[in-house]
Amino acid sequence: MAKCLTLLLYIALVWCCFNNTPAYCLANETDRLALISFKGSIDQDSFGALNSWNDSLHYCDWEGIACSRRHRDRVTKLNLRSQGLVGSLSPHIGNLSFLRIIVLQNNSFHGPVPQEIGRLFHLQTLELRNNSFGCQIPKNLSSCSNLKILNLIDNNLTGNIPGELGSLAKLEALGLSKNNLSGTIPFSLTNLSSLSVVSLGECNLQGEIPEEINRLQALRLVYLFGNNLSGKIPSGLFNISTISYLDVGSNKLHGSISFDTGSSTFDLTNLQRIYLYHNQFTGMIPTSLSNATGLEGIDLSENSFTGPMPKDLGKISCLQYIVVGLNRLQDDFSFISSLTNCTSLKWIVVDGNLLGGSLPDSIANLSLDMSYLTLSDNQVQGSIPSGIGNLVNLTYLDMSSNQLSGPIPETIGKLHKWQGLYLGGNSLTAIFTW
Ligand SMILES: *[C@@H]1O[C@H](CO)[C@@H](O)[C@H](O)[C@H]1NC(C)=O
Ligand SMILES: *[C@@H]1O[C@H](CO)[C@@H](O)[C@H](O)[C@H]1NC(C)=O
Ligand SMILES: *[C@@H]1O[C@H](CO)[C@@H](O)[C@H](O)[C@H]1NC(C)=O
Ligand SMILES: *[C@@H]1O[C@H](CO)[C@@H](O)[C@H](O)[C@H]1NC(C)=O
Ligand SMILES: *[C@@H]1O[C@H](CO)[C@@H](O)[C@H](O)[C@H]1NC(C)=O
Ligand SMILES: *[C@@H]1O[C@H](CO)[C@@H](O)[C@H](O)[C@H]1NC(C)=O
Ligand SMILES: *[C@@H]1O[C@H](CO)[C@@H](O)[C@H](O)[C@H]1NC(C)=O
Ligand SMILES: *[C@@H]1O[C@H](CO)[C@@H](O)[C@H](O)[C@H]1NC(C)=O
Ligand SMILES: *[C@@H]1O[C@H](CO)[C@@H](O)[C@H](O)[C@H]1NC(C)=O
Ligand SMILES: *[C@@H]1O[C@H](CO)[C@@H](O)[C@H](O)[C@H]1NC(C)=O
Ligand SMILES: *[C@@H]1O[C@H](CO)[C@@H](O)[C@H](O)[C@H]1NC(C)=O
Ligand SMILES: *[C@@H]1O[C@H](CO)[C@@H](O)[C@H](O)[C@H]1NC(C)=O
Repeated sequence: MAKCLTLLLYIALVWCCFNNTPAYCLANETDRLALISFKGSIDQDSFGALNSWNDSLHYCDWEGIACSRRHRDRVTKLNLRSQGLVGSLSPHIGNLSFLRIIVLQNNSFHGPVPQEIGRLFHLQTLELRNNSFGCQIPKNLSSCSNLKILNLIDNNLTGNIPGELGSLAKLEALGLSKNNLSGTIPFSLTNLSSLSVVSLGECNLQGEIPEEINRLQALRLVYLFGNNLSGKIPSGLFNISTISYLDVGSNKLHGSISFDTGSSTFDLTNLQRIYLYHNQFTGMIPTSLSNATGLEGIDLSENSFTGPMPKDLGKISCLQYIVVGLNRLQDDFSFISSLTNCTSLKWIVVDGNLLGGSLPDSIANLSLDMSYLTLSDNQVQGSIPSGIGNLVNLTYLDMSSNQLSGPIPETIGKLHKWQGLYLGGNSLTAIFTW
């Protein structure tokens, strides 16, 4: 009987809500007013995303809004991704105290990220990527103690990264790339033990990568490219076995790279991309790089690496890109023979080094996916193996400025996908018609 009554009451309630009688529906006036204020700060809504935000619908049914099941009229989610919205973000958003998810990615919001967001203690996701938010990153975000995802990538934010963010103990992803920031990577971020993604590329940061970064034992993706970071790569960074993408390209980092402690080698089996390009690294490319058997891409170009190519890169069967151009590598081309094991290989870029000797015939056995082969500005001798014509998908071949001699193999003429073929600056003789 009691159950029946409850059910009847519930049906009555739902009926009321459909007929939008706020008094019976216990609608929270605070949430409604906050949303109206949100809409009021939008200057342009070209796609009509907010057309449904009108009085004839309960605000829980407005486009992009989801409400709690338990607290039926409390807004938990605001998702207006890619809606072409132009305007500022109303500080009243801080009144939606049950909000867990804010997604305003890929719009044109400008002005500050309101510090009132710091009042949203249930907030787990703040996704504001690709807008024009300006001013500083509000320190108050550090009060959102349940925050897991903070994505402010590709905005117009200025100032330092607030050290206070280091208190977001549950943070799993921190995205600040492509902003006009300044200062250093705060030491406090090494406290974020759940952090798995850190994206601080093109942020105008300087200083060193904190040595204690090895405390972040859940790191998977690390993007620090395009800053002015200096110093060495902390020795413990490669000891984080979870890392799969590491991009520290285009900084001012120096020193040598090491994948061991002297007594033991690091576990590199999760590493998929290692991008160290355009820095001032020296020393040899560690032979233990070939322990990273899951590697897909290596870009060590534009540094001062010396010595030979690692010999057994062929152990890495899924390798697709090897880019080590513009270094001081000194070797012959026997490493090519090992690479025939890499059946997905697409790019080999070794231009501008001190590589000599002749090209092995095994070049014909490289992956059929090979599309880009550049070994210009080295000291390659001998003739071009005619088997190169096997690489039917080659679109770009640059062997210019070496000491190659003999005939240009006619097989090269059978390759039909050319976008670039450069053989000048050699002593190649035969001319033929294609
Ligand atoms: C609406 O939310 C505010 C802030 O959370 C709260 O103080 C108020 O009691 C709520 N009103 C109702 C009717 O639930
Ligand atoms: C309110 O929104 C609903 C749903 O989009 C729409 O059908 C209705 O025409 C709107 N009412 C007004 C007055 O704009
Ligand atoms: C971004 O939003 C625009 C509409 O303003 C849309 O055309 C585009 O596909 C969106 N891009 C992404 C990456 O979502
Ligand atoms: C909502 O937020 C604004 C700005 O933070 C504040 O001034 C106002 O008092 C709040 N309104 C309610 C009903 O809580
Ligand atoms: C960023 O958003 C604009 C629309 O505001 C869109 O045109 C552009 O494609 C987006 N860029 C990316 C990388 O998503
Ligand atoms: C921001 O945080 C400071 C310090 O915790 C606090 O005094 C201030 O009221 C907060 N601002 C808002 C808008 O909540
Ligand atoms: C970014 O901020 C600068 C001033 O700091 C301003 O001149 C520029 O227009 C802003 N860009 C965007 C896309 O809002
Ligand atoms: C970056 O910020 C500085 C001030 O911090 C400003 O002078 C400069 O114009 C900004 N650059 C861009 C591209 O917004
Ligand atoms: C890191 O966290 C510990 C406690 O977990 C705290 O005592 C310490 O002050 C924090 N360090 C920084 C730099 O935030
Ligand atoms: C890693 O590579 C080094 C040098 O190539 C080798 O001695 C070592 O056994 C390898 N370790 C593992 C775990 O494969
Ligand atoms: C190539 O693969 C074969 C079979 O998996 C293996 O025996 C050989 O050692 C590999 N060669 C190199 C250079 O890694
Ligand atoms: C050449 O490349 C295309 C895609 O770019 C691929 O579908 C095809 O399998 C490749 N050819 C060979 C022989 O691998």
